[in-house]
Amino acid sequence: MIILKTPAEIEIMAEASRVVAEVLEIVRKEVRPGISTDDLDRLAEKEIRARGATPAFKGYRNYPKTLCASVNEQVVHGIPSGRKLKDGDIIGLDLGAIVGGFYGDSAVTVAVGPVPKKIAALVQVTEESLYLGIEQAVVGNRLTDISHAVQRHIESAGYAVVTEFVGHGIGRQLHEEPQVPNYGKPRQGPRLQSGMVLAIEPMVNMGGSAVRVLEDRWTAVTADGSWSAHFEHTIAIQPSGPARVLSRRVAGDI
Ligand code: MF3
Ligand code: CO
Repeated sequence: MIILKTPAEIEIMAEASRVVAEVLEIVRKEVRPGISTDDLDRLAEKEIRARGATPAFKGYRNYPKTLCASVNEQVVHGIPSGRKLKDGDIIGLDLGAIVGGFYGDSAVTVAVGPVPKKIAALVQVTEESLYLGIEQAVVGNRLTDISHAVQRHIESAGYAVVTEFVGHGIGRQLHEEPQVPNYGKPRQGPRLQSGMVLAIEPMVNMGGSAVRVLEDRWTAVTADGSWSAHFEHTIAIQPSGPARVLSRRVAGDI
């Protein structure tokens, strides 16, 4: 069952998502060679709590940290550690917060110093695919119109969509129905309705689409070692017109 949110609930979700957006912006500015992913995690937790919010991922199915920090061939769910970032790395930063019992969820991928053009293009195409998906999140469309738009952009650029992880409905739970795949035929699945709130999150690999999970039981990496990028926004479908991007960042968004 897809739980529709009232306008008042969407305002609370906007608040949770705004906390996520602000903190992601703070954390991304600290990304530089020599900083550890644990440093970024501590900063994220401090800034979430300073806003009166609660980290959403810490303790979720025993996930140990506030931030997911996924470097290079890591696709999603990288656990922060003492690993220090180096020039030429890319890092996915995925963050969730709870305000008033509602979740916000968003992710960005950032380059650490200069990266080769092909890597920069991977990151850019992934972010563009998210926005093309969001454009389809309007009343009158169906769920997989989002999925199809994301997939088309990624594959026409020659990259591979990760199929083992998907976006999701979000609300009083981090993961609600429906699942939001980043691939599929258009015009399938539920009709999009005002009050649906979705986390859309394309994960895109340079090489093949296959992923595997490391011994830590969280970190997803590409099977072929190729690099991967991830972006995510929490969006609310409006009675008419474009979706409201609840986790839009003040600066640094497309
Ligand atoms: N954005 C991710 C998701 O929706 C982050 C979850 S990490 C977890 O699945 F630790 F909370 F699982
Ligand atoms: Co998510």
